[in-house]
Amino acid sequence: MITTQSIADIRAQVKAWKQKGETVAFVPTMGNLHLGHITLVKEAKTRADHVVTSIFVNPMQFGQNEDLDAYPRTLADDQAALIEAGAELLFTPTPEIIYPKGMDAQTFVEVPGISDVLCGASRPGHFRGVATIVCKLFNIVQPDIALFGQKDFQQLLVIRTMVDDLSLPIEIVGVETIREDSGLAMSSRNGYLSAEQKAQAAQIKRTLDKMACSLKTAQSIEAVIAQGQIELEDVGFRNDYLDVRNANNFAVANGEDTELVILVAAYMGSTRLIDNLVVKLA
Ligand code: PAF
Repeated sequence: MITTQSIADIRAQVKAWKQKGETVAFVPTMGNLHLGHITLVKEAKTRADHVVTSIFVNPMQFGQNEDLDAYPRTLADDQAALIEAGAELLFTPTPEIIYPKGMDAQTFVEVPGISDVLCGASRPGHFRGVATIVCKLFNIVQPDIALFGQKDFQQLLVIRTMVDDLSLPIEIVGVETIREDSGLAMSSRNGYLSAEQKAQAAQIKRTLDKMACSLKTAQSIEAVIAQGQIELEDVGFRNDYLDVRNANNFAVANGEDTELVILVAAYMGSTRLIDNLVVKLA
């Protein structure tokens, strides 16, 4: 696997592959890779001739009081895992390479509406940072397809909308959330949890499953959310949001919807965890 910080190197390699008529899949990451990322790379390999990945802890998507500096950087381990998974090219730019003029003097991409609710409301500017970096990385790598985890449901929707709105010729693939045996969704932020907090955090999936059952038995959405909030608080979570939305257009769910998504963000100590579950009612 070639690791490079150079935009020109990435472009030259991808161009050489494309000139031979070969296809390219892309998995952008912020590093500190876990089985969720590795699953994306393996899935990418089944869908294209070559897999390109990136590791870039994107400062533009972190708020002022968030964990940018503390975010784990584990390049050597990540490289080993990517080689094992079959990636051929890894882009590891610095912030200076990506934002040479500085972030505030940089053109940005903003997807209106869905960027402002839930995670977007709790983390103002977050999805502008995500859309901008993903758009830039797409323009650097120029992949045929790109893969993202469904754990970041709202992020996936923001990226799909951006690709659609800007007519980017890239197929976006969402890959199912990978979970620990306890049900806890894999995340780089799980590394901040103590063993005890990790055990408590497994309640998220149990609550999502229970809420899904309750929604299927036609209980009122408000009552289901209220019950879910109590369950999470009982094991020590401080809830950021717990909501039920239309899984396709992200509108607040109503009694007519047949495909819903339950979305949660909650703090265990100072660690903010997110998860979601799609529920089909029909
Ligand atoms: O999901 C992530 O790891 C990041 O938000 C992404 C998509 C790599 C953009 O920085």
